Amino acid sequence: MAETIRAFVTGFPIKHSRSPLIHGFWLKTDGLEGSYMAVETTPEAFPAFVSSLQENGYAGGNVTIPHKETAFALCEAHDGAAEAIGAVNTLWFERGRLYGGNTDAFGFAANLDEYAGGWDNADTALVLGAGGASRAIVHALKSRGFSHIHIVNRTLARAQAMADHFGPGVSAHGWSAAQDLVGTSGVIVNTTPLGMEGHGKSELALDLSKADPSTIVTDIVYTPLETPFLKLARDAGLKTVDGLGMLLHQAVPGFEHWFGVRPEVTGELRAHILADM
Ligand code: ATR
Repeated sequence: MAETIRAFVTGFPIKHSRSPLIHGFWLKTDGLEGSYMAVETTPEAFPAFVSSLQENGYAGGNVTIPHKETAFALCEAHDGAAEAIGAVNTLWFERGRLYGGNTDAFGFAANLDEYAGGWDNADTALVLGAGGASRAIVHALKSRGFSHIHIVNRTLARAQAMADHFGPGVSAHGWSAAQDLVGTSGVIVNTTPLGMEGHGKSELALDLSKADPSTIVTDIVYTPLETPFLKLARDAGLKTVDGLGMLLHQAVPGFEHWFGVRPEVTGELRAHILADM
Protein backbone atom coordinates (compact mmCIF):
# COMPACT_ATOMS: atom_id res chain seq x y z
CA MET A 1 0.00 0.00 0.00
CA ALA A 2 1.29 3.46 -0.89
CA GLU A 3 2.31 5.64 2.04
CA THR A 4 -0.18 8.33 2.98
CA ILE A 5 1.03 11.75 1.87
CA ARG A 6 1.24 14.15 4.79
CA ALA A 7 1.10 17.94 4.74
CA PHE A 8 0.70 20.61 7.44
CA VAL A 9 0.05 24.23 8.22
CA THR A 10 2.22 25.75 10.89
CA GLY A 11 2.15 29.09 12.67
CA PHE A 12 1.95 30.56 16.15
CA PRO A 13 -0.84 30.52 17.12
CA ILE A 14 -2.45 28.20 14.57
CA LYS A 15 -5.87 27.29 15.90
CA HIS A 16 -7.75 29.86 13.79
CA SER A 17 -6.30 28.67 10.48
CA ARG A 18 -8.91 27.59 7.95
CA SER A 19 -6.36 25.75 5.81
CA PRO A 20 -7.15 22.30 7.35
CA LEU A 21 -10.80 22.78 6.34
CA ILE A 22 -9.86 23.68 2.75
CA HIS A 23 -7.33 20.89 2.20
CA GLY A 24 -9.47 18.38 4.12
CA PHE A 25 -12.37 19.19 1.77
CA TRP A 26 -10.20 18.60 -1.33
CA LEU A 27 -8.69 15.37 0.06
CA LYS A 28 -12.21 14.07 0.60
CA THR A 29 -13.77 15.22 -2.67
CA ASP A 30 -10.77 14.00 -4.71
CA GLY A 31 -10.86 10.66 -2.85
CA LEU A 32 -7.17 10.90 -1.87
CA GLU A 33 -5.38 9.04 0.93
CA GLY A 34 -3.65 12.01 2.52
CA SER A 35 -3.59 14.09 5.65
CA TYR A 36 -3.30 17.82 6.30
CA MET A 37 -2.81 18.86 9.91
CA ALA A 38 -2.38 22.10 11.87
CA VAL A 39 0.87 22.03 13.86
CA GLU A 40 1.70 24.86 16.23
CA THR A 41 5.39 25.84 16.32
CA THR A 42 6.90 28.67 18.34
CA PRO A 43 9.47 30.90 16.64
CA GLU A 44 12.19 29.09 18.64
CA ALA A 45 11.02 25.65 17.49
CA PHE A 46 10.33 26.56 13.86
CA PRO A 47 13.83 26.01 12.34
CA ALA A 48 14.10 22.50 13.87
CA PHE A 49 10.58 21.71 12.65
CA VAL A 50 11.58 22.66 9.10
CA SER A 51 14.86 20.74 9.15
CA SER A 52 13.08 17.53 10.22
CA LEU A 53 10.19 17.64 7.73
CA GLN A 54 11.35 14.67 5.65
CA GLU A 55 12.20 12.60 8.75
CA ASN A 56 8.65 13.21 9.90
CA GLY A 57 7.21 12.07 6.60
CA TYR A 58 5.92 15.44 5.37
CA ALA A 59 5.69 16.18 1.64
CA GLY A 60 5.45 19.87 2.57
CA GLY A 61 3.01 22.34 4.00
CA ASN A 62 1.91 25.89 4.60
CA VAL A 63 3.61 28.45 6.78
CA THR A 64 1.79 31.35 8.33
CA ILE A 65 2.33 34.22 10.77
CA PRO A 66 4.93 34.73 12.26
CA HIS A 67 7.15 32.34 10.28
CA LYS A 68 6.89 33.50 6.65
CA GLU A 69 10.19 35.44 6.56
CA THR A 70 12.11 32.80 8.56
CA ALA A 71 10.80 30.15 6.17
CA PHE A 72 12.15 32.18 3.26
CA ALA A 73 15.62 32.15 4.86
CA LEU A 74 15.48 28.39 5.55
CA CYS A 75 14.56 27.28 2.01
CA GLU A 76 17.17 26.08 -0.48
CA ALA A 77 15.27 27.49 -3.48
CA HIS A 78 12.31 29.82 -4.08
CA ASP A 79 9.71 30.50 -6.72
CA GLY A 80 9.62 33.93 -8.38
CA ALA A 81 6.82 35.26 -6.20
CA ALA A 82 8.61 34.34 -2.96
CA GLU A 83 11.79 35.99 -4.28
CA ALA A 84 9.89 39.19 -5.08
CA ILE A 85 7.92 39.24 -1.82
CA GLY A 86 10.66 38.00 0.53
CA ALA A 87 8.29 35.65 2.35
CA VAL A 88 7.24 32.03 1.94
CA ASN A 89 3.82 30.51 2.67
CA THR A 90 4.21 27.14 0.93
CA LEU A 91 6.96 24.51 1.32
CA TRP A 92 7.57 21.43 -0.82
CA PHE A 93 10.42 19.17 -1.90
CA GLU A 94 11.73 19.00 -5.44
CA ARG A 95 14.69 16.79 -6.39
CA GLY A 96 15.48 16.49 -2.68
CA ARG A 97 15.65 20.26 -2.13
CA LEU A 98 13.35 22.29 0.10
CA TYR A 99 11.47 24.82 -2.04
CA GLY A 100 9.60 27.84 -0.75
CA GLY A 101 6.86 29.55 -2.68
CA ASN A 102 4.47 32.39 -2.08
CA THR A 103 0.94 31.75 -3.35
CA ASP A 104 -0.75 34.86 -1.92
CA ALA A 105 -0.17 36.91 -5.07
CA PHE A 106 -1.59 34.08 -7.19
CA GLY A 107 -4.61 33.82 -4.84
CA PHE A 108 -5.28 37.55 -5.05
CA ALA A 109 -5.16 37.61 -8.86
CA ALA A 110 -7.14 34.37 -9.28
CA ASN A 111 -9.92 35.73 -7.05
CA LEU A 112 -10.25 38.86 -9.19
CA ASP A 113 -10.00 36.79 -12.40
CA GLU A 114 -12.95 34.75 -11.14
CA TYR A 115 -15.20 37.57 -9.96
CA ALA A 116 -14.05 40.67 -11.85
CA GLY A 117 -12.66 39.50 -15.19
CA GLY A 118 -10.80 42.30 -17.00
CA TRP A 119 -9.73 43.88 -13.68
CA ASP A 120 -6.15 43.95 -14.93
CA ASN A 121 -7.03 46.18 -17.88
CA ALA A 122 -6.68 49.09 -15.46
CA ASP A 123 -3.22 50.60 -15.02
CA THR A 124 -3.58 52.35 -11.67
CA ALA A 125 -4.21 50.72 -8.28
CA LEU A 126 -4.58 52.01 -4.74
CA VAL A 127 -3.38 49.63 -2.01
CA LEU A 128 -4.31 50.46 1.59
CA GLY A 129 -1.75 49.08 4.05
CA ALA A 130 1.90 48.09 3.81
CA GLY A 131 2.22 44.79 5.71
CA GLY A 132 3.00 41.28 4.52
CA ALA A 133 -0.25 40.82 2.59
CA SER A 134 0.24 44.16 0.87
CA ARG A 135 3.66 43.04 -0.44
CA ALA A 136 2.09 40.00 -2.09
CA ILE A 137 -0.65 42.14 -3.62
CA VAL A 138 1.74 44.76 -4.98
CA HIS A 139 3.73 41.93 -6.57
CA ALA A 140 0.53 40.58 -8.15
CA LEU A 141 -0.42 44.04 -9.46
CA LYS A 142 3.06 44.57 -10.92
CA SER A 143 3.01 41.11 -12.52
CA ARG A 144 -0.36 41.91 -14.13
CA GLY A 145 1.03 45.06 -15.69
CA PHE A 146 -0.20 47.85 -13.41
CA SER A 147 2.06 50.82 -14.11
CA HIS A 148 0.94 53.06 -11.21
CA ILE A 149 0.59 51.39 -7.82
CA HIS A 150 -0.03 53.72 -4.89
CA ILE A 151 0.57 52.34 -1.41
CA VAL A 152 -1.13 54.32 1.35
CA ASN A 153 -0.19 53.51 4.93
CA ARG A 154 -0.61 54.92 8.44
CA THR A 155 3.16 54.56 8.90
CA LEU A 156 4.59 56.26 5.81
CA ALA A 157 8.10 54.83 6.34
CA ARG A 158 6.77 51.28 5.89
CA ALA A 159 5.04 52.19 2.62
CA GLN A 160 8.21 53.96 1.47
CA ALA A 161 10.34 50.89 2.20
CA MET A 162 7.96 48.83 0.05
CA ALA A 163 7.98 51.37 -2.78
CA ASP A 164 11.80 51.36 -2.72
CA HIS A 165 11.79 47.56 -2.80
CA PHE A 166 9.41 47.30 -5.77
CA GLY A 167 10.93 50.19 -7.74
CA PRO A 168 9.51 52.28 -10.59
CA GLY A 169 5.74 52.58 -10.77
CA VAL A 170 5.19 51.96 -7.05
CA SER A 171 4.81 55.02 -4.81
CA ALA A 172 4.23 55.59 -1.09
CA HIS A 173 1.79 57.97 0.59
CA GLY A 174 0.49 58.82 4.02
CA TRP A 175 -3.15 58.15 4.83
CA SER A 176 -4.23 61.70 3.99
CA ALA A 177 -3.47 61.09 0.29
CA ALA A 178 -5.92 58.20 -0.01
CA GLN A 179 -8.99 60.28 -0.80
CA ASP A 180 -7.40 62.04 -3.77
CA LEU A 181 -6.15 58.73 -5.19
CA VAL A 182 -9.65 57.18 -5.17
CA GLY A 183 -10.70 59.04 -8.31
CA THR A 184 -7.83 57.80 -10.48
CA SER A 185 -7.56 54.17 -9.33
CA GLY A 186 -9.12 51.35 -11.36
CA VAL A 187 -8.59 48.87 -8.52
CA ILE A 188 -8.72 49.66 -4.79
CA VAL A 189 -7.55 47.03 -2.28
CA ASN A 190 -7.78 47.03 1.51
CA THR A 191 -4.97 44.98 3.06
CA THR A 192 -5.34 46.35 6.61
CA PRO A 193 -7.34 44.58 9.33
CA LEU A 194 -9.74 47.54 9.55
CA GLY A 195 -13.31 46.25 9.39
CA MET A 196 -12.37 42.74 10.54
CA GLU A 197 -14.63 41.14 13.15
CA GLY A 198 -13.10 41.49 16.59
CA HIS A 199 -10.72 44.21 15.48
CA GLY A 200 -12.43 47.11 17.21
CA LYS A 201 -14.72 49.73 15.84
CA SER A 202 -12.37 51.67 13.56
CA GLU A 203 -13.30 51.46 9.92
CA LEU A 204 -11.92 52.73 6.66
CA ALA A 205 -13.40 56.17 6.11
CA LEU A 206 -13.04 56.88 2.41
CA ASP A 207 -15.57 58.62 0.22
CA LEU A 208 -15.91 56.20 -2.68
CA SER A 209 -18.53 58.30 -4.47
CA LYS A 210 -15.61 60.05 -6.19
CA ALA A 211 -14.41 56.79 -7.78
CA ASP A 212 -14.80 56.12 -11.49
CA PRO A 213 -17.90 53.88 -11.99
CA SER A 214 -15.70 51.10 -13.44
CA THR A 215 -13.55 50.88 -10.28
CA ILE A 216 -13.22 47.44 -8.64
CA VAL A 217 -12.95 47.35 -4.85
CA THR A 218 -11.65 44.33 -2.95
CA ASP A 219 -10.73 43.52 0.64
CA ILE A 220 -8.47 40.79 1.98
CA VAL A 221 -10.58 40.67 5.15
CA TYR A 222 -13.29 37.99 4.81
CA THR A 223 -14.83 38.07 8.30
CA PRO A 224 -17.39 39.47 7.71
CA LEU A 225 -17.64 38.51 4.06
CA GLU A 226 -18.98 41.96 3.24
CA THR A 227 -16.77 44.33 5.21
CA PRO A 228 -17.95 47.87 5.98
CA PHE A 229 -15.50 49.01 3.26
CA LEU A 230 -17.03 46.71 0.64
CA LYS A 231 -20.48 47.89 1.72
CA LEU A 232 -19.40 51.50 1.15
CA ALA A 233 -18.21 50.51 -2.32
CA ARG A 234 -21.39 48.63 -3.14
CA ASP A 235 -23.47 51.61 -1.96
CA ALA A 236 -21.39 53.80 -4.31
CA GLY A 237 -22.39 51.49 -7.18
CA LEU A 238 -18.92 49.93 -7.56
CA LYS A 239 -18.05 46.32 -8.32
CA THR A 240 -16.83 44.54 -5.17
CA VAL A 241 -14.96 41.27 -4.61
CA ASP A 242 -14.73 39.75 -1.12
CA GLY A 243 -11.53 38.26 0.31
CA LEU A 244 -12.64 34.65 0.76
CA GLY A 245 -11.69 33.69 -2.78
CA MET A 246 -8.09 34.82 -2.21
CA LEU A 247 -7.85 32.43 0.75
CA LEU A 248 -9.27 29.55 -1.30
CA HIS A 249 -7.21 30.17 -4.44
CA GLN A 250 -3.90 30.63 -2.57
CA ALA A 251 -4.30 27.05 -1.31
CA VAL A 252 -4.42 25.53 -4.82
CA PRO A 253 -0.69 25.41 -5.76
CA GLY A 254 0.35 23.84 -2.43
CA PHE A 255 -2.22 21.06 -2.68
CA GLU A 256 -1.01 20.29 -6.20
CA HIS A 257 2.65 20.19 -5.07
CA TRP A 258 2.00 17.74 -2.22
CA PHE A 259 -0.82 15.55 -3.46
CA GLY A 260 -0.22 15.71 -7.23
CA VAL A 261 -3.74 16.81 -8.14
CA ARG A 262 -4.76 20.38 -9.01
CA PRO A 263 -7.87 21.03 -6.88
CA GLU A 264 -10.78 23.21 -7.89
CA VAL A 265 -12.19 26.22 -6.08
CA THR A 266 -15.91 25.50 -6.29
CA GLY A 267 -19.11 26.91 -4.84
CA GLU A 268 -19.27 23.79 -2.64
CA LEU A 269 -15.85 24.58 -1.14
CA ARG A 270 -16.93 28.18 -0.52
CA ALA A 271 -20.11 27.01 1.20
CA HIS A 272 -18.11 24.50 3.28
CA ILE A 273 -15.84 27.28 4.61
CA LEU A 274 -18.70 29.74 5.09
CA ALA A 275 -20.60 27.16 7.14
CA ASP A 276 -17.73 27.23 9.63
CA MET A 277 -17.57 31.04 9.99
P1 ATR B 1 -0.41 41.54 7.25
O1 ATR B 1 0.78 40.63 7.21
O2 ATR B 1 -1.70 40.83 7.44
O3 ATR B 1 -0.45 42.48 6.10
P2 ATR B 1 0.78 43.44 9.11
O4 ATR B 1 2.10 43.15 8.52
O5 ATR B 1 0.65 43.49 10.58
O6 ATR B 1 -0.28 42.37 8.62
O7 ATR B 1 0.23 44.81 8.46
C1 ATR B 1 -0.97 45.36 8.85
C2 ATR B 1 -1.25 46.61 8.01
O8 ATR B 1 -2.45 47.20 8.49
C3 ATR B 1 -0.19 47.70 8.16
O9 ATR B 1 -0.16 48.43 6.96
C4 ATR B 1 -0.75 48.55 9.29
O10 ATR B 1 -0.31 49.89 9.28
P3 ATR B 1 1.08 50.32 10.01
O11 ATR B 1 2.19 49.90 9.10
O12 ATR B 1 0.97 51.80 10.15
O13 ATR B 1 1.09 49.59 11.34
C5 ATR B 1 -2.22 48.52 8.96
N1 ATR B 1 -3.06 48.81 10.13
C6 ATR B 1 -3.29 48.01 11.19
N2 ATR B 1 -4.14 48.60 12.07
C7 ATR B 1 -4.43 49.83 11.53
C8 ATR B 1 -5.26 50.94 11.95
N3 ATR B 1 -5.95 50.88 13.09
N4 ATR B 1 -5.33 52.01 11.14
C9 ATR B 1 -4.63 52.07 9.97
N5 ATR B 1 -3.84 51.06 9.53
C10 ATR B 1 -3.75 49.96 10.29
